[in-house]
Amino acid sequence: MTSTGPNEPRQQSERRRPVLLVVHHTASPATQTLLEAALDGTKAEGLEGVEVRVKPALAATALDVLDADAFLLGTPANIGYMSGALKMFFDGVYYPTLVAKTGAPYGLYVHGNNDTTGAVRAVESIAKGLGWRRVHEPVTVVGAPDKQASEAVWELAATVAAALIGPD
Ligand SMILES: Cc1cc2nc3c(=O)[nH]c(=O)nc-3n(C[C@H](O)[C@H](O)[C@H](O)COP(=O)(O)O)c2cc1C
Repeated sequence: MTSTGPNEPRQQSERRRPVLLVVHHTASPATQTLLEAALDGTKAEGLEGVEVRVKPALAATALDVLDADAFLLGTPANIGYMSGALKMFFDGVYYPTLVAKTGAPYGLYVHGNNDTTGAVRAVESIAKGLGWRRVHEPVTVVGAPDKQASEAVWELAATVAAALIGPD
């Protein structure tokens, strides 16, 4: 007899979809443009099997990280570093998620108005400490995002999401 009751084990077809967590600090039209490009990229053809969750950095928690399989990070450069919001996210999740996500694919975009070097270096250093695996070069955008910048962030996001799709 086939049972469909709520307490029955999940069928094979209901397998959990891999989760991409987008953690971003978006505080201006320029960073909003890049976030939208990133979210568009996660919807590229063939990525339907990936569940995308989007969290402002100030609201993302260790549980969000533990529930996710890949990470896309977006931040402005602030005084030669990542935004305080993204740093606060990392401070809150670092030890609670350390080791748990070793090898998880991640990608990063940074927006700045003159020099994004320190922000990229800082995020990469923490991601390395967490054991995350970079699957795309960081995308840095200086000044007002043009079409090329949005396309680069789109590509970045699609690449991180695609890292969750198996060969079958
Ligand atoms: C306090 C402060 C510090 C900043 N520091 C940097 C920086 O170190 N490098 C950089 O490229 N841009 C820096 N910026 C520019 C921001 O990255 C930029 O304002 C942000 O990405 C949003 O872009 P928008 O101002 O074009 O909207 C700074 C902005 C502020 C307000």
